[in-house]
Amino acid sequence: MKKSQSKFYITTPIFYTNGSPHLGHAFTSVLADVLARYHRIKGDNVRFLTGTDEHGATNVRAAEAAGKSPVEFVTEISAEFRELRNALNLSWDDFIRTSDQERHWPGAEKLWRKLARAGDLYRKKYRGLYCVGHEAFITEKDLVGGKCAHHQKEPEVIEEENWFFRLSKYQSKIESSIKNQELRIVPESRRNEVLAFLGGGLEDVSFSRPRKDLSWGVPVPDDLDSTMYVWCDALANYLSAIGYGQGQNIEMSKFREWWPAQVHVLAKDILRFHALIWPGMLLSADLPLPQTLLVHGFITVESQKMSKTVGNVVNPLTLVRKYGIDPVRYYLLREIASTEDGDFSVSKFEQRYNGDLANGLGNLVARVAALGEKLSPIRFDFKNHIEKEIDAASDRAFTGYEHHIAEFRFNEALADIWALVGAADRYINKKKPWAIADENELRRVLTNAGYLIGTITNLLEPFLPESAGKIKKQICFQDSVLEIKKGEPLFPRR
Ligand code: MSP
Repeated sequence: MKKSQSKFYITTPIFYTNGSPHLGHAFTSVLADVLARYHRIKGDNVRFLTGTDEHGATNVRAAEAAGKSPVEFVTEISAEFRELRNALNLSWDDFIRTSDQERHWPGAEKLWRKLARAGDLYRKKYRGLYCVGHEAFITEKDLVGGKCAHHQKEPEVIEEENWFFRLSKYQSKIESSIKNQELRIVPESRRNEVLAFLGGGLEDVSFSRPRKDLSWGVPVPDDLDSTMYVWCDALANYLSAIGYGQGQNIEMSKFREWWPAQVHVLAKDILRFHALIWPGMLLSADLPLPQTLLVHGFITVESQKMSKTVGNVVNPLTLVRKYGIDPVRYYLLREIASTEDGDFSVSKFEQRYNGDLANGLGNLVARVAALGEKLSPIRFDFKNHIEKEIDAASDRAFTGYEHHIAEFRFNEALADIWALVGAADRYINKKKPWAIADENELRRVLTNAGYLIGTITNLLEPFLPESAGKIKKQICFQDSVLEIKKGEPLFPRR
């Protein structure tokens, strides 16, 4: 891979602590993890942030239902999100909690004050339909049979006097930054969706709740009667986590070093918050916009929306316990197109597991290890020993892979790697090394197969880091020596 030395700041959404993590949360986190790892391998200076969104009505109600205080409840759930790090081998550098009064609140308050100073916050009486699931006002258009189409719940009619953010003022600036790619939205279809929405005109947004109705949140600076709207508080995490609001010179220089984010990873349901409100807030605070919003779809289960009510929530920990970390990462990254909706089912999972992992990659490594161990170490000379077609196959996969990662099409990058698994299998079947008597000829064939496995291992590293490490212990193709040693099966058959 090309070596570079740029900074790369990547974030996941911060997750509501109203319930345990499920496979959808795992998906977002794994996508971001691949990019973080890919950029670290390239030599970039990476900072990968995740965390939990702990304020607002949705968290308060979940705590009440569990018979716990908000602080007790969100602390427990936040710890469960933190555990995903080990469970899924996530390489985040930082985890922020919005209830952290020392790390997060000063940043949220500073941002609020900036918007106020720009004259972009004003008081207004408002009556509207509030969906607690969305933590947002919705309109009649969002309802199906009187219920929010997304959360299947009736919205609450709320009439309050609140602080409003003058989002409408930034309409044309937001539009032009999306059009000129200063703020890139991936995929194109999501970008078009945002542009179409902008065409309808932006309205100002309610940015606070009365403290008497919602006290679980960041207090509005200089207004004892208001709590910051949970999205205003939440979006500020991307800044507070890197030192915004800490006031000290050191923290501010850390902030300047990292902001703006290179990539915010998020799902389609929170696109408008990230593509409209967030840029509006940043423009008002005179801060640069993030570079790319990578927007993915939803994971359904057996084609149904994953939800607690339906009772089909897939717990990533259960899957990891049964199959291991990398098979779960592999399924999410391969079966689900990075920017589309995708489906989970046990039968599809097992098909991928047995087909691509156990019989595909695992079998290839085991075959070459078994055939080659007795000849290891094998010294070779790249120019004379690597066949043209093998070198070309490796180059083709590499080029496709780089292109697909640049386009954020991770499932296709994995397909490029698996094209090499197929090429290596075909090569071995054609050469029939088990029937080769001449040791030099056998060394040559193993070297070519080892070269393909070496490329596969390198390309695999950001996706399946644990497996890449295990393969290297069995088949290590480096400089001019190929070392081969049999080991445990990578993916035992199920
Ligand atoms: N707290 C807000 C985000 C604030 S970001 C400043 C929120 N939280 S959430 O927990 O409801 O969802 C966060 C993210 O989890 C979604 O954007 C998405 O990335 C991921 N997913 C939640 N459910 C999902 C699926 N069923 N499928 C795929 N991803 C899903 O919104």
